[in-house]
Amino acid sequence: MLIAQISDTHIAGPGLKTFGVAPMAENLTRCVQSINDLTMAPDLVLLSGDVTNNFARDEAMRAADILAGLNCSYYLVPGNHDDRDVLWDVFGGAACPSRADGFINYVIDGGAVRIIALDSVITGEHSGGICDVRAAWLRDALTRGGDQACVIFTHHPPIKCGVPETDEDGFDNAEILGDIVADYPNIERILCGHIHLLTHARWRGTVVTTAPSMGMQLDLDLTQSCPSKFLLSDPAYLLHHWTPEGQLITHSIQVAPLGGPHEFVQV
Ligand SMILES: [Fe+2]
Ligand SMILES: [Fe+2]
Repeated sequence: MLIAQISDTHIAGPGLKTFGVAPMAENLTRCVQSINDLTMAPDLVLLSGDVTNNFARDEAMRAADILAGLNCSYYLVPGNHDDRDVLWDVFGGAACPSRADGFINYVIDGGAVRIIALDSVITGEHSGGICDVRAAWLRDALTRGGDQACVIFTHHPPIKCGVPETDEDGFDNAEILGDIVADYPNIERILCGHIHLLTHARWRGTVVTTAPSMGMQLDLDLTQSCPSKFLLSDPAYLLHHWTPEGQLITHSIQVAPLGGPHEFVQV
């Protein structure tokens, strides 16, 4: 099974660049083309939130138009730059197939790895979190899957990644999520977005991965002495490959001219 993960597309309105400088629609188009060109076709694509930049319907419509170019199905969860109602209206049914209790939570069954989409948005806040309703839903979803390998797919990482977006903003009830996660050793990974940087960290018996930048790379300052800024970058995405040996191997794909390929031949 092959899962592609793109994140934080931050699409601006028609004809616009995000924050006036980032060509995010163009970057997403490049990613779609790159995914379609892969020699092993993904089973599906996950978009881990911040689909739009400013909650707007025309931004979501623009994203949908580009994502329609994918040769496989795609699914999404909301981020702190998204409006659930807008996502539901524009993508509902196919890309966010359930809206239990008002949250965009659902399970994708049928593959070698179950995918559990968890809505981590707190309306009106940039921070993430879960509540009692979502915690109960998650525990039930995990229990129904038995011991089959699964991933949790969500926007906000539940850990401090060394950047203000996680360390200052926080994740409400991270300890409740952590206690649930610790009860299910079959959770291969928690796949997140939000920080526009590729990171991996062990947490409560699994690994939290955050997706790389789609073109607005966080200007990393581990001293956190300045407000966050972003750098324009080539877009990147992740490929999570569930191998015949039963391991989830994650590759980071940079969508940029790299030169080559070249043979491993001594000259
Ligand atoms: Fe973002
Ligand atoms: Fe975010």
